[in-house]
Parts: sequence; C-alpha cells; structure tokens
Amino acid sequence: MRLPSAGLAGPAAPFAVAVAVALALLSLAAAAVVLVARTRARASTRTLAEALAAAEREREARAADSRRLQAIIDSMADGVIFIDAGDRIALVNAAGRSLRNLRDGERRPVKECHPRATHAMLDRVMGYLRRGDDAGAAHSIIKEREGRYETTYAAVRVDGAYVGTVMVIRDIAERRTLERRLLDAERLAGLGQMSAQIAHELRNPLNVIDGAAQYLSRRFAADPEVREYAGLVGDEVQRVNRFVSALLGVARPAEPSFAPVAVNRLLRDAAQRAAVARGLPASAVSLDLSPDLPVLDVDGSMITEALVNLVQNALDAGGTTPPELASRYEADGGDGAVVVEVRDRGCGIPPDQLDEVLRPFVTTKPTGTGLGLVVVVRAVEQHRGRFELAPRDGGGTVARIRFPVRQTVSGAARGSGVAA
Ligand SMILES: Nc1ncnc2c1ncn2[C@@H]1O[C@H](COP(=O)(O)OP(=O)(O)O)[C@@H](O)[C@H]1O
Ligand SMILES: [Mg+2]
Repeated sequence: MRLPSAGLAGPAAPFAVAVAVALALLSLAAAAVVLVARTRARASTRTLAEALAAAEREREARAADSRRLQAIIDSMADGVIFIDAGDRIALVNAAGRSLRNLRDGERRPVKECHPRATHAMLDRVMGYLRRGDDAGAAHSIIKEREGRYETTYAAVRVDGAYVGTVMVIRDIAERRTLERRLLDAERLAGLGQMSAQIAHELRNPLNVIDGAAQYLSRRFAADPEVREYAGLVGDEVQRVNRFVSALLGVARPAEPSFAPVAVNRLLRDAAQRAAVARGLPASAVSLDLSPDLPVLDVDGSMITEALVNLVQNALDAGGTTPPELASRYEADGGDGAVVVEVRDRGCGIPPDQLDEVLRPFVTTKPTGTGLGLVVVVRAVEQHRGRFELAPRDGGGTVARIRFPVRQTVSGAARGSGVAA
C-alpha cells in the first residue's frame, strides 16, 4: 500500500529537504545571533549601570567632602570667604554670612558685595594678589556701622597658578572694648595714689576756706553783697569737695559688703537723696515700685550711691516731666532678675555716645566730673549685674540695672567684681 503523496514525491524531494535544512540552519543562526546580541547588550547594560553607580558614589563622596569642608569653616568664629579666579565669591562660612553685605554673597561677583566707593581699592588689592606682588597677608580695618572688622587677604596658588583669594574677617569690636576698658582701668589705678595725695592736700584748705566764708556771712549778715559772695565761695568749695570725693571713690573703690536688702527701700532712699541734693521736693522724682520683689543680697550703700548718680543724671537731663525710678521682677527663663530703671524725658544721649559716656572723665556738663557712671558700672559689676543706657521710646533715656536673683539666696554675690 502507498501512502498518499504529500507533494514531495518524485525527483523534487531531495531539493525540498535541502531547502528545509537550510531554512532550519538559517533560523538557528538567526537565533544564535539574537542570543549573542542579547548577551552583549545585557553585559554592556551591566557595565553601564556599574559605571553609573561608581559615578554616583564618587558624586556622593565629593558632596560629603564639600559638606565636611563647609562644616569645618562654619565652625570658625571668624568670617571666611573664598573668592575664585573670576572674582566671584565661591565659598562663605556661617560667620561670613552673618555680615550684612555677604548675606546673599555666594556665587556673586565680589564687587557687588562692596560699596561702589571701595571698588578701586578692591581692584588694586585683587590685582596685587593675582600677580603675587604682595609679600604676605594684607590687613585692613573696616569700620562699619555694625562694628569694627579686621580683614586678612591671602592669595591661594596651586602649582604656582592663582586660583583665588581667601579672606578672613575678624570682628574686633569686642577686643577693642576690652582694650579700652583695660586702658580705663589702668588710668584709674594710676590715679589712685595721686588722687589720694591731692585729696589730702585739698581737703584741709578747702575746709578752712568754707569755714571762713561762713564766718564772713555771719559777721556781715546785714550786707547782702557779702552774703552773696560768701555763698558763692561755699558752693564752689562744695563742688571741689564733691569732685575730690568722686575721684577718691573711683580711684580707690571699696570692697562691697553684702547683706539681704529690700530693693525698694534703696530706691526710695536714692530718690529722696538725689532730690534733696538739688534742693528739690521729694515729688521731683516719681516712684513706680513693684510690691513683691525678692530680697537681694547687695551692698546697700554702694547701690544707693549708684542710684543717686543715675537720678541726678536724669534730673540734669532736663525735660518737663519728673524722672521715674522703677523696679520690677522679670522671670526671664532662668532664676529671673530684679530690674531697676531710671527713666527721664530729658535731652537723651546720642546713640553713638551710649558707650562713650561710660568712660571716666567724659562729661558734657560744665560742672560735671564724668565719674558718675563709672561709679555705677563698677557697683553693678561688683554685684554681677548688668547695666545699660538706652534711648527711651518717646524721648529721653532709660538707665537699667539688672540684678540676677540667683545670687540673693545662696550669697553667690561674694563677687570678685566680674560681671556675670
Ligand atoms: N539720663 C541722661 N540723659 C542725658 N545724658 C546723660 C544721662 N546720663 C548720662 N548722660 C551723659 O553722660 C555723661 C556722663 O555722665 P556721668 O558719668 O554721670 O558724669 P557727669 O554727670 O559728671 O557728666 C553726662 O555728662 C551726659 O552727657
Ligand atoms: Mg552724673
């Protein structure tokens, strides 16, 4: 029996087989090619991914390095700025950013952060640095409204090529204040010996002159002219006496002796004494006292003297409303503070003089000594308190003393005279 032909019978059959085999081989080859291509593609995808990962790791490492560098320079107290070779600010640390002109300085040309008037100077300095003409670090002191700064510039070179300039800006206002206070303290200490001698030499003849003036005004009581002149002599003698006492007081300060005191009593006392010293009624000074204040451990007479000085300054400042002497308790966070204020509606103190008037012998009064505030500052420091003079809202001045309360109970005020 024969099977039905499938159409491949006869002489065509071997050709068809050959074609079929060839086709099979071809598709096999194609499959192989696809396989190889796929494998290759997979391999190159893998290397690409690896390269990408490596690049990412590198980028992260760089970012971590730059964060570390920023953290290091941010931890510096001085302002640090790096200006690149294109005169743009490439790096600013936290202290630098706190300066007004550098707040948004990063990436900006350095000139944009400086007033136009200083551009020529800036060009000159940057030129020196770029060319390497300058032997060492350059210094300059910039006095700005917000303080005093000392700036140091230094060129940065890599393999001899200029890559930029690093600037370090140091706030020297604090240092200046300390230096000035040291100088003032030395001035006063130097005065000690001399003023004690002068006071000794002056006191006796002054007492004699005063006594003689009083005698004359009694002896010629009927003559108004003699009485007037004798009164004048007496007044001036009193003034010299006061100056000599003030001088002695600051040149040879007493050690405070602390005892528990109700502060309001000191305030009443001071108000009365200041008014009496000017021949004024008690109403010349008004009181605004908080009824419940903690008892303070202070040297009563030292604080009273300081308050009298402040009230006298307030009276001297003029104005139509009487000065106020006020006390209050402030629970500012920690143990709190007793705040004493002397407020006036007088002539006020120009803002740029608020520090200056605290210095010895600085006075704007024809008969002033310039020592009143020195006594105040010294007394407050010996009580570890804080003193400030400030313009008063609506005109006039506020003199404020802040006594920390923690010192009252434990007697921590056995002070070394250092302000807290
Ligand atoms: N309340 C105030 N109002 C205006 N100016 C004041 C006030 N307190 C102090 N001053 C200024 O500070 C200067 C120094 O004060 P002070 O040390 O007490 O010395 P004196 O009173 O002898 O001048 C004063 O001459 C005055 O210019
Ligand atoms: Mg005074």
